[in-house]
Amino acid sequence: MKLSSLRRSIALLAAVVRTVSASPTIPQIINADTVTLAFNGSIDFNITVCPEIHIFGARETTTPQGFGSSITLIDLLNNTFPGRVTAEQIFYPAAGGSNAEYSASVTAGVQAVVQQTAAFTAMCPQSIVIMHGYSQGAQIMDDAFCGGPDGVSLNSSGVSLVSRQTASNVAAIILMGDPRHVDGFPPNVGNATGFGFAARPKGFRCPAFENRMQSYCDSPDPFCSNGTSIATHQGYGQEYGKQALAFILGKLLIS
Ligand SMILES: *[C@@H]1O[C@H](CO)[C@@H](O)[C@H](O)[C@H]1NC(C)=O
Ligand SMILES: *[C@@H]1O[C@H](CO)[C@@H](O)[C@H](O)[C@H]1NC(C)=O
Ligand SMILES: *[C@@H]1O[C@H](CO)[C@@H](O)[C@H](O)[C@H]1NC(C)=O
Ligand SMILES: *[C@@H]1O[C@H](CO)[C@@H](O)[C@H](O)[C@H]1NC(C)=O
Ligand SMILES: *[C@@H]1O[C@H](CO)[C@@H](O)[C@H](O)[C@H]1NC(C)=O
Ligand SMILES: *[C@@H]1O[C@H](CO)[C@@H](O)[C@H](O)[C@H]1NC(C)=O
Repeated sequence: MKLSSLRRSIALLAAVVRTVSASPTIPQIINADTVTLAFNGSIDFNITVCPEIHIFGARETTTPQGFGSSITLIDLLNNTFPGRVTAEQIFYPAAGGSNAEYSASVTAGVQAVVQQTAAFTAMCPQSIVIMHGYSQGAQIMDDAFCGGPDGVSLNSSGVSLVSRQTASNVAAIILMGDPRHVDGFPPNVGNATGFGFAARPKGFRCPAFENRMQSYCDSPDPFCSNGTSIATHQGYGQEYGKQALAFILGKLLIS
């Protein structure tokens, strides 16, 4: 991350800390390609009101349904905006026993991302949405937002599959250990130069979303790159969670 934007994020974080007890504090999306949102606190979420910020978490392969390793960043965000963040897990198999099982799981996961985000943004069109996918969970978000093709899992041709409302409400997309990693993709963070096992073609771009996206991958990672360290693959929350949080805060105007 550039020092100037890190400074800006820290300044924003300081602003959050200062103003958090004074209401109303209204986060808005800045730097997104499309719109600026302001939370309208009066929208009903049925059970309660729509949150100011909603984060979707998609877990990695073979972990039980839940947030998996995406929980680290979710907790960081929640702790930054106490009482103002809701989190929703993506419901999908996260299977990987065989190539066929993995592909079917990715296919189901992409559909789940598309459907769950569409349902949420239709219900809460003024809530800020953050996406966070870990490993296979990163792959399904990558595919849902940037399109395919992705082997037998996804036959679309590079078009985003998410709803228009989702596309405009998403402030940041944080991918960690994404098997679609390819060297040279602008959102890349980390020192990996190897290809992930489901890598995008060299030169791949995702123009609609890439400036809202960060994709973390280090060279020892065996899944997003060509290394051998499972610990690296499982460690991105610790290694980069705070940096990812700063990126998210850099997309929010706290006034
Ligand atoms: C916010 O919600 C209230 C009550 O539903 C509505 O009257 C108002 O128009 C909304 N404001 C915006 C900016 O959507
Ligand atoms: C939403 O509120 C309505 C009216 O109170 C209720 O019938 C319905 O069960 C609620 N839905 C959920 C998902 O809580
Ligand atoms: C955020 O933290 C609060 C307080 O620890 C907790 O009650 C709540 O469930 C957390 N929300 C999310 C979305 O994790
Ligand atoms: C994609 O196309 C291939 C080849 O026609 C087919 O085998 C596969 O089932 C398709 N996958 C999906 C998710 O539609
Ligand atoms: C890349 O970063 C990882 C994690 O910080 C480190 O362990 C590794 O040695 C680095 N690799 C190279 C080639 O710099
Ligand atoms: C990983 O891929 C990079 C880029 O293609 C290459 O330079 C490096 O030698 C590869 N490392 C291993 C361990 O295969």
